[in-house]
Amino acid sequence: MTEQPKIAVVTGSNRGLGYAIARKLGQKPDIKVIITSRRETEGLAAKDQLVAEGIQADYHTLDVTDAQSIQQFVEWLRNTYGKVDILVNNAGVNSSGHVEEASLLTAQTETVLSTFTTNVVAVIQLCQALIPFMKQQNYGRIVNVTTEMASLSLIGEDSYPIVPSYRISKVGLNAVTAILAKELQATNVLINTYSPGWLKTDMGGANALFTAEEGAETAVYLATLPDGGSQGKFFAEMRRFGTPIQLPW
Ligand SMILES: NC(=O)c1ccc[n+]([C@@H]2O[C@H](COP(=O)([O-])OP(=O)(O)OC[C@H]3O[C@@H](n4cnc5c(N)ncnc54)[C@H](OP(=O)(O)O)[C@@H]3O)[C@@H](O)[C@H]2O)c1
Repeated sequence: MTEQPKIAVVTGSNRGLGYAIARKLGQKPDIKVIITSRRETEGLAAKDQLVAEGIQADYHTLDVTDAQSIQQFVEWLRNTYGKVDILVNNAGVNSSGHVEEASLLTAQTETVLSTFTTNVVAVIQLCQALIPFMKQQNYGRIVNVTTEMASLSLIGEDSYPIVPSYRISKVGLNAVTAILAKELQATNVLINTYSPGWLKTDMGGANALFTAEEGAETAVYLATLPDGGSQGKFFAEMRRFGTPIQLPW
């Protein structure tokens, strides 16, 4: 009997870093990736591209800010595969396009809230929905995509733009990671967060330092950690340092 592949869900995997992570994960013979996106046409095209490359991939719509969409996705996952082994919380929005985001004193409440909803609340909801599957099978790997701009220890001295809504949201995401890691301590469900570096995606722009494929490497490393591997850690992109190194919270 052939063994069932591991099922890996990547949010926002129709483009950018999410697509690169899904592609790299799917290149592993024992992993089937589930491409998800809020717009079906784009997600299906991404899935078809991977399948054309010989990758095991499936697709379902998932708007991470829509509770009904999450519920429908989880039902589909339950009925189709009955499990989930890997969750990469990649979908995210960045508030840097708003001029008010040059200062916390001018940040718009609406932007603070909408950024927090996508980058933090959605991750909480997906974890609430999918961790029970992982606990039941005593296996799970969760990777949260954050930014080094969320390191509170470095915020006073770094040279990054202020972008308060984005940075505050990713600090929140790091907290979600740390809290869930504590709750999952006695299990084989490992949750970590990492900063992919500055990437040439729609979000990062053409002047960025790394390709999405380079930014995806650490996600794959964390998504395939062996039993007993890192739990509740904040990593930098390993490409830059040659090895996974931890960042200060
Ligand atoms: N690029 C960088 O330099 C950089 C640096 C550090 C961290 N990151 C993080 O890396 C992750 C991916 O960034 P990226 O550079 O690939 O950005 P991107 O090119 O803007 O892609 C963002 C992805 O998130 C999806 N998304 C946004 N809101 C969603 C929602 N409500 N439901 C489902 N999907 C949603 C987008 O879907 P649509 O196509 O529907 O919009 C898109 O697939 C983000 O979490 C980001 O904060 C990026």
